[in-house]
Amino acid sequence: MIDLTRAQFMRRFALGLGLSLMVAACGGADTGTGDAPEAGGGVLKVATEPAFPPFESQGADGELEGFDIDLMTAIGETAGLEIQFESLPFDGIIPALQAGTVDAAISGMTITEERAKTVDFSSPYFKAGLAIAVQEGTDDIAGFEDLEGKKIAVQIGTTGASEAAKIPGAEISTFDSAPLALQELVNGNVDAVINDAPVTLFAISSDNLTGLKVVGELLTEEFYGIALPKDSENLAAVNEALASMIADGTYAEIYQEWFGAEPPTLPESAF
Ligand code: ARG
Repeated sequence: MIDLTRAQFMRRFALGLGLSLMVAACGGADTGTGDAPEAGGGVLKVATEPAFPPFESQGADGELEGFDIDLMTAIGETAGLEIQFESLPFDGIIPALQAGTVDAAISGMTITEERAKTVDFSSPYFKAGLAIAVQEGTDDIAGFEDLEGKKIAVQIGTTGASEAAKIPGAEISTFDSAPLALQELVNGNVDAVINDAPVTLFAISSDNLTGLKVVGELLTEEFYGIALPKDSENLAAVNEALASMIADGTYAEIYQEWFGAEPPTLPESAF
């Protein structure tokens, strides 16, 4: 918890510093557009479902915050693209990309072969996996095999929902957001939640939810990617920006701010 507070402080500090530098930079640039953007030069409308801390959530002031938000903002700065976030339900994100009503999405979205049939993904930007959460007092669920015939809550359209669908005899309830699924577990209406481990652990450690624990091993290893419409002209710029931010330490800095640790090495592709 101390780490978290410190991380948030660091983030605000860094943000404040960034802003003052930007103001300073703008002060001298009264000749119009200033620096020529390295690529793109346009606006990128980026969808996110902002109930997934620490990746994306809405702060007290309504502003979006989180690792994904900082990462995407930095990618925009690096690629010379103006990022405009748009909040959408998670299961509406891929349809919106297909319809072309948004240009990209960053939403803790796992790169899967199924999704890759309909959208393009950036290189992996985060390593995650699914975890099982139960009430603290539960002693008959220690892993995936013990979920047979149990009541399980998941977020709609997620990899957690697909994993739950594989369990024989399980009674699945789907919710619009991960916090709602976890709340159902706190309320004792289900036996378990299958959700992304970093999000479940963050919810437990930040005291948003009490009386829950994670059991067993991670069910999956997953990599998050930024999703774009098929054959998007922006894919190369996003990947180049990400690669340069990984190389120059910007990525590690953002990772430190939110996770208080060094980032793991990421593979070039998810599969
Ligand atoms: N990683 C999981 C998936 O891609 C869950 C993502 C949920 N993201 C969110 N912002 N609610 O299916």
